[in-house]
Amino acid sequence: MPVPGPGYSITVRVEAPPSASAAGDLTSAAGRVGGVITAFDVVDSHSDRVVVDITCNAMSADHARDITDALEALPGVAVRKVSDRTFLMHLGGKIEVTAKVALRNRDDLSRAYTPGVARVCQAIAENPDDARRLTIKRNTVAVVTDGSAVLGLGNLGPAAALPVMEGKAALFKKFAGVDAWPVCLDTQDTEEIIRAVELIAPVYGGINLEDIAAPRCFEIERRLRDLLDIPVFHDDQHGTAICVVAALRNALRVVGKDIADCRVVVCGVGAAGSAIIRLLLRRGPGDVLAVDVDGIVHPDRGDIDDNLCWVARNTNKDKVTGGLHDALVGADVFIGVSAPNLFGADQVATMAPGAIVFALANPDPEVDPLEAQKHAAVVATGRSDYPNQINNVLAFPGVFRGLLDAQAHGITDTMLLAAADALADIVDGDRLNASFIVPSVFDAAVAPAVADAVRKAAGTAHSG
Ligand SMILES: NC(=O)c1ccc[n+]([C@@H]2O[C@H](COP(=O)([O-])OP(=O)(O)OC[C@H]3O[C@@H](n4cnc5c(N)ncnc54)[C@H](O)[C@@H]3O)[C@@H](O)[C@H]2O)c1
Repeated sequence: MPVPGPGYSITVRVEAPPSASAAGDLTSAAGRVGGVITAFDVVDSHSDRVVVDITCNAMSADHARDITDALEALPGVAVRKVSDRTFLMHLGGKIEVTAKVALRNRDDLSRAYTPGVARVCQAIAENPDDARRLTIKRNTVAVVTDGSAVLGLGNLGPAAALPVMEGKAALFKKFAGVDAWPVCLDTQDTEEIIRAVELIAPVYGGINLEDIAAPRCFEIERRLRDLLDIPVFHDDQHGTAICVVAALRNALRVVGKDIADCRVVVCGVGAAGSAIIRLLLRRGPGDVLAVDVDGIVHPDRGDIDDNLCWVARNTNKDKVTGGLHDALVGADVFIGVSAPNLFGADQVATMAPGAIVFALANPDPEVDPLEAQKHAAVVATGRSDYPNQINNVLAFPGVFRGLLDAQAHGITDTMLLAAADALADIVDGDRLNASFIVPSVFDAAVAPAVADAVRKAAGTAHSG
């Protein structure tokens, strides 16, 4: 059941009679249809009317219209304008470039630009490593997408992906001081994407691939890692894997189980699921059962691609067959990165005692968290309106901060695991409980701790 939230927040400008009851009538009318008022501002006043801005959280675009209609239906009230606050935030984009140097006079110009800049160019031509010292490369990441898997919305193309990539860049800056820039490519051809990223790479200290559909994303990342001398990190894969491995470590501490004794069901073997499985296997689980839309992955299943072949070879020790519900029986852990509403409380009840359920499909999880809580000891989702929100923003800013500081040329599983441990360790023993297995995304300690761990794992001291 959705609740009114800031994602569907509107400001309605109304004219109302200047009566003593006007404010109460307006707020009651919005409240009666389920609107949650967050601000009420009188912006103008006349002898015969007042002009009021009512800011209100809604559940959906339709619900926002219901609220506006309810206000308009009041006697003497006229709606002048309705502003969608989310769209207002995106007007003109969310990021910009600012100069770090003053350009006040001819002297400044001569050093920042010609003729002085020429000597800096020559220095880099003679010693290409100087690019990291003398240009934006040392702190800049490209956020590259082809728009083929935008959030949970599917193939929206590069222009429609831009608001997400801008948001990502804003998060990079806010949480880790990284200058990230959206690169939305107008192609969904694997070879063209690889070539385009190769061509732009000189500017960047790292490449963050984003919202590129599986299985294309696997080949693009693998080939770019071979081609480039900077780290290439597909956040939908590895950012998710870091957060899940961290959260699982803490959830296991809550239920007092050792991962070596646990059977873990991973539902969804796409971008996120495949990376979770690969990183999780480094932690030595008792067994992993991978499940996709066609059921449990096993080596004798026909028609499986290279990715599923690898998963089949490295999971499912007992070669179990069947569907998700079969996989859940006796399982210690469920990790879902697949599709909404796949099971209910009855299936959670078939899991082992002290079950851990991470239902991460967005926006609607694999199981309703309130249903899962009836039988599971720990429940996490990707949602901000429940405890234990697993969100990649816990990982990617710190990961790139560490990679850039270390001037890393690549990224390894050791770095990913170091990031996961650092993230888990933020939640110390005093704060750890079933409703707090991961820190808040606004915990200022997160990005520095993750960055420090990645920097150390990269084996190079912070260059300052
Ligand atoms: N909360 C988080 O941090 C987080 C991070 C990454 C992904 N996700 C969510 O996980 C989901 C998957 O993301 P992705 O990028 O890996 O997508 P993807 O398209 O690459 O993979 C989806 C996988 O789910 C499987 N699947 C689909 N329907 C299924 C069903 N009915 N039963 C079992 N398996 C089914 C598919 O076979 C595929 O293996 C999305 O909802 C995404 O929003 C959440």
